[in-house]
Amino acid sequence: MSTGAYRKSYDASIADPQGFWGEAAKDIDWITPPTQVLDDSNPPFYRWFPGATLNTCYNALDRHIAERGDQVAIHYDSPVTGAKASYTYAEVLSEVRRLAGALAGAGVVKGDRVVVYMPMVPEAVFAMLACARIGAVHSVVFGGFAPAELAARIDDAKPKVILSASCGIEPSRVVPYKPFLDEGIERSEHKPELVVMLQREQCEAAMGPRDVDWREFVSSPAAEAGADCVEVAATDPLYILYTSGTTGKPKGIYRDNGGHAVALRWSMRNIYGVEPGETMFTASDVGWVVGHSYIVYAPLLTGATTIVYEGKPVGTPDAGAFWRIVSEYGAVTMFTAPTAIRAIKREDPEGSKVEGYDLSHFKTLYLAGERLDPDTYHWAHEKLGVPVVDNWWQTETGWPIAANCRSLEALPIKPGSPSVCVPGYQVEILDAMGEKLPAGQEGAICIKLPLPPGTFPTLYNDDERFVSSYMAAYPGYYLTGDGGYIDEDGYVYVMGRTDDVLNVAGHRLSTGSIEAALAGHEAVAECAVIGVHDDLKGQLPRALVVLKAGIDAASQGERIKKELVARVRSEVGAVAALRQVDIVTALPKTRSGKILRKTMREIADGHTPVVPATIEDVNVLTMLTPILHPED
Ligand code: COA
Ligand code: AMP
Repeated sequence: MSTGAYRKSYDASIADPQGFWGEAAKDIDWITPPTQVLDDSNPPFYRWFPGATLNTCYNALDRHIAERGDQVAIHYDSPVTGAKASYTYAEVLSEVRRLAGALAGAGVVKGDRVVVYMPMVPEAVFAMLACARIGAVHSVVFGGFAPAELAARIDDAKPKVILSASCGIEPSRVVPYKPFLDEGIERSEHKPELVVMLQREQCEAAMGPRDVDWREFVSSPAAEAGADCVEVAATDPLYILYTSGTTGKPKGIYRDNGGHAVALRWSMRNIYGVEPGETMFTASDVGWVVGHSYIVYAPLLTGATTIVYEGKPVGTPDAGAFWRIVSEYGAVTMFTAPTAIRAIKREDPEGSKVEGYDLSHFKTLYLAGERLDPDTYHWAHEKLGVPVVDNWWQTETGWPIAANCRSLEALPIKPGSPSVCVPGYQVEILDAMGEKLPAGQEGAICIKLPLPPGTFPTLYNDDERFVSSYMAAYPGYYLTGDGGYIDEDGYVYVMGRTDDVLNVAGHRLSTGSIEAALAGHEAVAECAVIGVHDDLKGQLPRALVVLKAGIDAASQGERIKKELVARVRSEVGAVAALRQVDIVTALPKTRSGKILRKTMREIADGHTPVVPATIEDVNVLTMLTPILHPED
């Protein structure tokens, strides 16, 4: 148990959140500095820095120009195209000013939404910052998502403009984005006024009446004139990032400007140990929260250098790709998901690819996005010879809930645990009745309100769902959706989701979306998707499907299964990675009709299932057991 700097900082954050975050806020340039730190008058709706104003893009770019205009802000490294480029802070500012000017010229004003559907190219970062500059709200949609997911996001965010690129490049193929985008817009009720398309030479998109070429867009007189930073309230939205819940309708996480800037800047110094002028390499994608926070905003708010890496951990060209990047750009910190390390370990078990690269700058590897299994932890620690720091968080929080805040105080690392609560977060384990459980006992991981700055104050346009999904289960607490325990030293152990949300290769996916895609097939009467253990990806989805009466599984089953796999790929996206579909005669349910996904998941993973007393027909489960777990 710490008695040192971590403990002092943590205790201060809980005893006096106003004082603690008021102090942290001094690292941000405000237009109207905060006079009030926290508005807690309307729980569970808390607002940080009400009344204060700022511009996030100003803090990420303009404020650094005097001191670091010539410092590289973004290195772009794309082994899938062979391209490399470096942009100084002054160059990024110039690009962003232009794009922001062009957007303003197209009529985008403060509060308007702009969807960004792009691969890992620097223009994706320019797009986010350009929106922030004019107070528009960006909503980045991960490039691996297909039309159904896009349409759901377009209908919720109602963007005036969509910024996109003609294709993404995967090691095995070029992925044209335009057909997905056109279909997504076709399916959505809301239509954007304009689509700006970055043409990439690997696959140029055919342009339609709504489409404008990116290069023309940023050459217009409005772009030439550029846009200055627009003053926004600390509580105004910077972005909406959709994340998966249990249902097919994604949740629009609302991120404010002020709390976000304060928290991310604080996290860089105290959790990730990155100082101005240093380089951070986050191997994720701007479509995920890790990308928003630690590829884009936190490094730039810090005056650090970030890396936009368009490649994979393996196969582009080999399992040494990450170590090359760390070495070539002198990164002090690297951040990725455990699944990426497992992929590297599988290709290069001896870690021989680490040798030959100068990693003398490299101080720490941070891993998040899914549980860090002890094997992966030990391998990375041994092969890289640096501390490996697990950190646990969610799209909802935007930055870590639990981590080893090594720059405050390097606490001992316990493999299997993301360490202790980060200052600002009061994590407790509750039982079904809402009682706090003692050390070592597993239950629902909850966080006592208020959540610290930077976390979501609500869901975009949906206060009701914010309350019903997260705040209603245990009044006064935020329900994380994860289960686990805290040990006697205060170390948190996150064991997995307690709901039906899937985590495939660190990507959060909804069972509901995949089920909706399956259910849309004409032969499907009923279906259920469960996430089963996978050594590489953590989890993989499996589908169980009941066919409509009269359809013969023996003669048509194989064709239908293939069509279902293809359907999920074209509706939800390849990233869902659904490969296994089983045709069954019935699904296990409770008497009220709820499908027992968790029970099936436990069977498939070889555990003894918890069978609820309310099961409708236990025979269905008995019949499914050999299908779910053939060794039994
Ligand atoms: N655009 C289009 N398609 C994409 C895509 C994108 N941005 N990202 C992934 N896909 C496709 C892939 O090409 C693949 O298609 P395939 O079925 O035709 O091969 C499919 O989606 C699954 O991709 P992926 O999850 O990347 O699996 P993989 O088997 O290709 O690679 C790993 C496995 C472990 C190497 C990979 O998942 C990985 O790098 N994971 C890191 C996860 C991560 O960064 N998570 C972010 C949270 S920190
Ligand atoms: P996302 O919102 O996509 O970041 O996914 C968040 C979910 O990923 C969490 O609710 C956890 O289930 C899981 N997760 C993220 N980081 C960790 C971690 N370090 N350990 C265990 N699970 C994690």
